[in-house]
Amino acid sequence: MIKVRKTWSDSESVKSRAKRGEGTSAPFSEEIKVYEKFFKIAIGNKKNTKSLVLGATPELRDLAIKHGSETITVDSSPKILSSLTNVMRYKNNKKNKSIIGDWLEMDKFLEPNSFDVIMGDISINNIPFKKWNNLFIIMNNLLKKDGYFITRQMIYDYPPKKIKSCEQLVKEHKKRKGTILGLLFELGYDTKYARSAYNQKTKAFNWSFFGECGEPVKKMLNKSEWINFVNFLEHAKYMTSFIISEKDFKKIIEKYFSLKKIAVLKKIHHSHMAPIYFFKVRTKFYLL
Ligand SMILES: C[S@@+](CC[C@H](N)C(=O)[O-])C[C@H]1O[C@@H](n2cnc3c(N)ncnc32)[C@H](O)[C@@H]1O
Repeated sequence: MIKVRKTWSDSESVKSRAKRGEGTSAPFSEEIKVYEKFFKIAIGNKKNTKSLVLGATPELRDLAIKHGSETITVDSSPKILSSLTNVMRYKNNKKNKSIIGDWLEMDKFLEPNSFDVIMGDISINNIPFKKWNNLFIIMNNLLKKDGYFITRQMIYDYPPKKIKSCEQLVKEHKKRKGTILGLLFELGYDTKYARSAYNQKTKAFNWSFFGECGEPVKKMLNKSEWINFVNFLEHAKYMTSFIISEKDFKKIIEKYFSLKKIAVLKKIHHSHMAPIYFFKVRTKFYLL
């Protein structure tokens, strides 16, 4: 928890994340539409619903509140929580609630069987892989028996099929009008840096190598793309993500949730590397 606070609460990093949009890992509006479609299926005709958002992501909290759901966000970083609450549309709505805390300890401060929906945006990828089972059990326990989990999740098949240079990836990015997030994923996944950045045993992906591709990338991006890239660098230099293949992700999570849908948006280049998954509680797990 202390490490998480340090990683996410560095002042420059908080500032860079609060900007939202293309230079951050905020979901795109097209992706929010998918979350909304799944959210509407999840709540159906229910009244007085309750949603839990893993992390301060303002777009997801606004979405749940827009649909009348009492929304609690749990985030371990007081600084991020306050700066991202500040950019919310419904920040002053009485259904907007938050708790500073660790997702791995939510069973200690949240009511079991009390949530209709849990949403996260690249949230699970923040948790050490060896703790994923614990987190899924906690989430399963907090959801009602007909509850749903909606999440965007980074996936990665290691090793890369073909190693490319940073320059080649930027060239492809420009040709296809890709997203900066997609370019960053590929610079990590498909270059020579993948071997040192990805730990196959712990599934940890360390993004600090970005600094090294900075020079070749800078020469090729236009000014606004470079500004977005730098904003990501500000944040990514502290980041470790825990990433596995879709096949392995399904194998683990499907013990607790059944998969209803996977959305990969053709128009958004990074989407196949971070699809949006829609799950329903499978069987209830009870914590002792
Ligand atoms: C949800 S994730 C991904 C962010 C998302 N893509 C965005 O840009 O909104 C980031 C948030 O998770 C929080 N976080 C990371 N690990 C956490 C943990 N173990 N418990 C609670 N919050 C955590 C961080 O403080 C940060 O605000």
